[in-house]
Amino acid sequence: MIIIKEKKKLQDYLNIKKAGGNRIGFVPTMGALHDGHISLLASCRRHMDVSVCSIFVNPAQFNNREDLEKYPRSVPQDILLLEKSGCDVLFLPEEKDLYEGEVKPDYTFGGMDTVFEGASRPGHFMGVARVVRLLFDAVNPDMAFFGEKDYQQCLIIRSLTSQLNLPVELKFVETRREDNGLAMSSRNRRLSPELRSDAGIIYQALLHAKASFGIESPEETENKCRQMIASRPHFKVDYFRICDAQTLKNISRWEESPGVVALVAVYAGNIRLIDNLSLKKA
Ligand code: PAF
Repeated sequence: MIIIKEKKKLQDYLNIKKAGGNRIGFVPTMGALHDGHISLLASCRRHMDVSVCSIFVNPAQFNNREDLEKYPRSVPQDILLLEKSGCDVLFLPEEKDLYEGEVKPDYTFGGMDTVFEGASRPGHFMGVARVVRLLFDAVNPDMAFFGEKDYQQCLIIRSLTSQLNLPVELKFVETRREDNGLAMSSRNRRLSPELRSDAGIIYQALLHAKASFGIESPEETENKCRQMIASRPHFKVDYFRICDAQTLKNISRWEESPGVVALVAVYAGNIRLIDNLSLKKA
């Protein structure tokens, strides 16, 4: 694996690869890598000739200083893991180089960026959109891979690429889970063993929502799922909503939308965890 820090050097390197007919796959990350990231890389390697991963903790997507400071960082271990997992190129940009020359963003997400994660973390998705665009400009990938765990982020990135008409194919990869069902996330390392074990209740609530499809009303289901999660000590539900899988508008009847998803965000102690489950595919 080669490690490149400068945007220009990365572009020069990848241009040569492209000229040789290689297709470039890209896995953007903020590091603190786990099996979820490695499954994105594995998918990237299956589809593409050259795999590029980036590690960059993007300050623009944090609205809370403490959250940014406490975000786990483990670049030396990440490098070993990426090497072992067959990554070809690691892009490790500095903020100044990455953001230099940024065109003022002019994206509209039709309100999708201000609900759920966007409501709890104002400005978060604009920050994600900005950095993803800059990373796409640097890598110019044929295909890019994102985890379905960040469902709303996947919708935002799809909208971004269509607004900018970017020639990149997006692949959303299924969420990897711990044995108790907890969605893998870099934030999980900040959980105590008790919270980590109790956090399996989030997936159980999502499965309850799936089992309740068409039986209880969406509202009854949401209430039950919130109660299930809140019954664990130190767990506070930020939201548990059942919504249209494309617009994220809340639904009051199951048949209202062709695709239905349940979205959840929970504070386990002071660690924010998110997850989702498709209840009906469109
Ligand atoms: O999902 C993430 O890790 C980040 O939001 C991303 C897409 C790498 C942008 O910083």
